[in-house]
Formats: sequence, structure tokens, C-alpha cells
Amino acid sequence: MSENQTEYTITFLPANRTVKVKDGSSVIKAAREAGLHINASCGGAGVCGKCRVIVESGEVQGGTSEKLSPEDFENGYRQACTAEVHEDITVRIPEETGRQKGGLGIDVPERHRARMHVFDIESVKKEGIFYPPVEKVCLELPKPGAHDNRSDVGRLMQGLADQLGKHRLVTGLTVLRKVRRALREKDFLVTATIELPVNEKSRNYLLNIQPGCWKHRNFGLAFDIGTTTVYGVLIDLNTGKILAKEFSYNPQMSYGEDVITRIIYAEKPKGLDMMQDLVIGAMNEIIARMLKNATPPVGEEHGPITRDEINSITIAGNTTMTHLLLKLEPDNIRRSPYVPVCTFIPPLCSEDLELELPHHCVALVYPAISSYVGGDIVAGVMGSGMYRTDLLTLFIDVGTNAEIVIGNKDWLACAACSAGPAFEGGGITHGMRAVEGAISDFSLNPENLEPMNITEGNKAPLGICGSGLLIIVATLFENKVLNQSGKFNPSDSPRIREGRSGWEYVLAWKDECATDHDIVINEVDIENFIRAKGAIFAGIMTLLEQVGLQVSDLEQIILAGGFGSYIDLDSAMSVGMLPEVDSSKFLYVGNGSLMGAWMSELSNHIRKDVVEVVRKMTSFELSEVPSFTDNYVASLFLPHTDLTLFPEAVKRRNLE
Ligand code: FES
Repeated sequence: MSENQTEYTITFLPANRTVKVKDGSSVIKAAREAGLHINASCGGAGVCGKCRVIVESGEVQGGTSEKLSPEDFENGYRQACTAEVHEDITVRIPEETGRQKGGLGIDVPERHRARMHVFDIESVKKEGIFYPPVEKVCLELPKPGAHDNRSDVGRLMQGLADQLGKHRLVTGLTVLRKVRRALREKDFLVTATIELPVNEKSRNYLLNIQPGCWKHRNFGLAFDIGTTTVYGVLIDLNTGKILAKEFSYNPQMSYGEDVITRIIYAEKPKGLDMMQDLVIGAMNEIIARMLKNATPPVGEEHGPITRDEINSITIAGNTTMTHLLLKLEPDNIRRSPYVPVCTFIPPLCSEDLELELPHHCVALVYPAISSYVGGDIVAGVMGSGMYRTDLLTLFIDVGTNAEIVIGNKDWLACAACSAGPAFEGGGITHGMRAVEGAISDFSLNPENLEPMNITEGNKAPLGICGSGLLIIVATLFENKVLNQSGKFNPSDSPRIREGRSGWEYVLAWKDECATDHDIVINEVDIENFIRAKGAIFAGIMTLLEQVGLQVSDLEQIILAGGFGSYIDLDSAMSVGMLPEVDSSKFLYVGNGSLMGAWMSELSNHIRKDVVEVVRKMTSFELSEVPSFTDNYVASLFLPHTDLTLFPEAVKRRNLE
């Protein structure tokens, strides 16, 4: 699809709704943006022929198909998914394609996603806390002479003290061995790399010495080690800017999709070594890619950034990932009373981790709270800024495990609950990750239950991803196709049928999708989904109870994690996954863990705050809280057994 910034207006009849779209957009995409349903079970791949519309004025490019007869074509019929807009047009959605006889009223609810919270470096600078853990300073030292035969190190340390007020400096043998040559190579012009003290008590540490002036090239890394993915960013520590960002799937996954199976593998002989080698290998590979793709801060004359110029790294991961990274035996994490080897990790150097980084590169690994609330959540709390706000905040990181934190700058309480892999497509018959061909949005024609499938990349459907699953279950429930237990109500639509795993709804027929089978959602899938959403909602309600609060007390809700950005808030409230509050209260921070790790590369003040935050966080083991089971059982319905918690959802489905 050719795209430029020019916009054109489409008027959809009979709803008489207009929408502006970019040049080259498809008519079906425009209909979706206008909130109009067009039957489209092949997800816009041009296969099913169901998205027929009539172009009444103006012209479209494409939109033809052997499913359209020459007469149809003559009469202005086009396939909406392959018809491109390059001028203002009027399109009629014929009854057989549209949702309602006569097409009046809002067809497809507008999707509400959480507002994006962007971390802004400038605010850190304005606050005067931009103070990276490692600094590079350039100094010209007086040359030795008859009246000055101080030692090289003495000359250097004095220079640092005099010129930069760097007192209480210590260093190590590696630097001592470099000083003589470094001082003389550029005629006593040198660059010192110094690790700055996090607090008054600790000392400046001279990490490295280089001949010449290189203070403009001071780089750091931040990593989020997730159960599924590993993300890394390369940072210019002089500006705080991210120079490159890369990710890969966590190669440990081939030894277990979730933390428990991975711990079990690590308990095998050489299992722990293997787990560490795999994640370190992935990190080194990501570092290599970032160094290759990053633009050096001051242009080419100094050439691409090299590993030797990386002076600091901050890593955040859940407790199990941190144990595997550090080769700490994780076995007691999975056995009650769930005891990690440690939660606080002492400052390390990257060599301890066998990362391909210089000996002098200092490493901070984020502290954890408990076996199931790890450094990634602490980093998320830092990244989201909830530890500095007065607003009473609920923070949720939705993944295979859902971690929950409630509080604000005065206090913090946290807990974890196992949501299972449903939101990553795991345990769902045709579940998949949010890649091309995944059904990620959906609407329904309630009269004939014809679907409008929106797929990633507008490709023929291959399966259902987490955000699609949420919207599909919510839409089937809101249209009374599903009852409160997640079972299908009787229907004579061919889309509802009995399959191998109970009753099911056919999202796309085999000849409309890129698979050799129909794509369905069945009652077992919906059960797994309800268990996952129930665990999250029960976790939220139980933690609120433990701190003596209610949903109405919450002033903001922060969503983090891969899935968080795609969550359609109305659907999440309709099914009883998230508390029903005004959607303007929701914020999305993206990969909160990575953001927290990045922030800790920008400021020792933030590093100091991390220690305070960890001390402030009270952890609740939900499996030990009796009311958790009651809350969980009550949440195994759509939306919940207590409908007073979801008045809007009740209205949407008029459940009175
Ligand atoms: S042919 Fe257009 S959606 Fe299937």
C-alpha cells in the first residue's frame, strides 16, 4: 500500500459517517476507524470476498476479485480490504455486508487503550538528578621534571582532585598497569573513567584510564531479562539518549515456557550452567547488534562505538531470571515457602557475568522483593514514577505472571499471581504471539454472527493473539453469544458448532485463512482465558483488601508489559479482568522494567531511590491470604459474580 501524508475523506452510507484517512489506506481500515462493521473473516487478506462495498462517488484503486462478477464491478462493487483510497469517495455498505439493517448507530465500539506515559530525560535534568553512575573526565597533567618526580598515579590522582574535586579516589591493579603508557601516549593528556558514589559514604572509583580526550564517548547499557524476551538499550551517558535498542526471544524458552519449568531444568546436572550461558549469549548478541546499528555521538571521525567504551550496565529481571543470570540455584523459589537465594545483589563488574564487556564495566542488577515480585517490577515502579507521586496508584505488569503494586510515594504493597500463558496465546487452541496473521481486533454482526477480523499486517488469519482474545471474548459476551460462565448460548448460526473441545465459534473458515483448518475459539479456550483474567482481578481485589482500600480509592492505574499496550480497556472491564474505572485513569508505560533500568543508568539519585523503594515495598503472598481463593472463584465468571462492581459492563450487555 503506497503511503504519503495526504489525507482523503470517505463518507460511509447509509450511516452517513465520514472519516479522514491517509492516501493509500484500505477502505476496510477506514471503516474500522469510523467505527463501522464490515464482514471480513479473512482479516482483509482478500480471500473471503465478504467485505463487498459499493463505491458510489469517486474512484478507488484495486478492490477487484474473481468473487466479484463483471455486473457487480459495473455496479460499483469493490472488495473493501484490497481497495485503496487515493481521493475523496462515498462508499455504501450494503446490508449483506454491514452489521445492521439500514446501518444506523455506532457499529463497532471505539477501542480505548491506556494513554502512553513517556519518560522524559529533560525532566530528570531539570530536576538536577541527571547524574549517571559513571563519568569520563579529560585532564591535562603537568609533566614530570626535576622538581616534580611524583609517581604517575600520584600525579593522576592529584590532577583529578585539583582539577575536578574528585577526592577519596580508589582504583585497582588493572588501572595501575595502564597508567605509565596512558600518560605518555598523548603527552599527559588523558581521560579518566570514574564510578561516582551512590551516597556520601562511598568513594569515587577510578575504573579506567585512556590516552587522549574521550570524555564525549561514555556509554552504558540497560537490559530487561524477561521470561519470554530480552530487551537491551545502548545509552549515551553524556546525554541520556538511547542510541540503539534491540531484543530477542529468551533462548531459555526452549527449556521451558514459564519460570517453573525453567527452574526444574536448572536443577538438572549442568542445567544451571546452560541457563546462564543461554541468557548471556543472548545479551552478548544483542550488544553486538546495538553496537553495529548505533550512531556514534560525535559522528564518524571517532568511528563506531566499541565494547571497550561501555562503562556501566543495569539489568532488571524477575527473580528467577536474575538467579539464572547470576548462576544462583533457583530451586527453592518454586517450593513453599518460596525462598530466593538473595534479593539484594552487590555491585558487580560485567566480567562476573561473563558478558563480553570491558573488565572495568560496572554492573547493577536490580534488587527483588520476593520469589515472585522481582527486580523487573521494582524497575517498573521506578520507570512508571509511581514511587514519586501522591496519586494512589495501581501498577499491573501483565505477562505469564501478573505482578501488582498498589501505593504511592508514601507506601507500597505488592503481590504476584499466576495468570498463565493465555495472554501470550499459550493454552489457546489457535493462540499465537502478536505477529503477522494474528487476529488482534474483532467485531461481530449480531444478526448473522459474521465476524470482522482485523489481523496484524492485514494478512490472512493464522490464529489469535492475546489482545485479540480479550476483544473476541468481550464481544461474544456483550452480544450474548456467551453466557456469564463463558459457555455458548444456543444459536442456529453456522458459526456456532460443536467441536472436539466443546462448543466453538468459527472466526475464519479454512479457505479464508492461511492455515489448513478453520480458526475457532472454543469453550476450553474461553475457560483458560477466564482463569487468567480471574487470577489478575482476584489479585487486585485481594491486595486492595489487604491494604484496606477499594477500587473507588484508586486515582491512577498503570499498565506495563508487552500485553499492556494492546489491552482494549472497555473489553478488559467487560470481562472483569480490570477494575471498572474511568478509562482516563489508565496509563501505559510500555516495558516498565527496561525503563527503570534505563533511568538507573541516568542517575545515581534514582539508584539510591531504588534502595528506598525496595525497603518501602511490603510483599503479600496471595496463596497465603484466605480471601484470595474467594475472590478468585467469584472472578471465574464474566464479568464477576458481583455485578455491582461492573455497572458499565452490565449496561453494555444489558444484563439487568
Ligand atoms: S476479502 Fe476482504 S476481508 Fe476477506
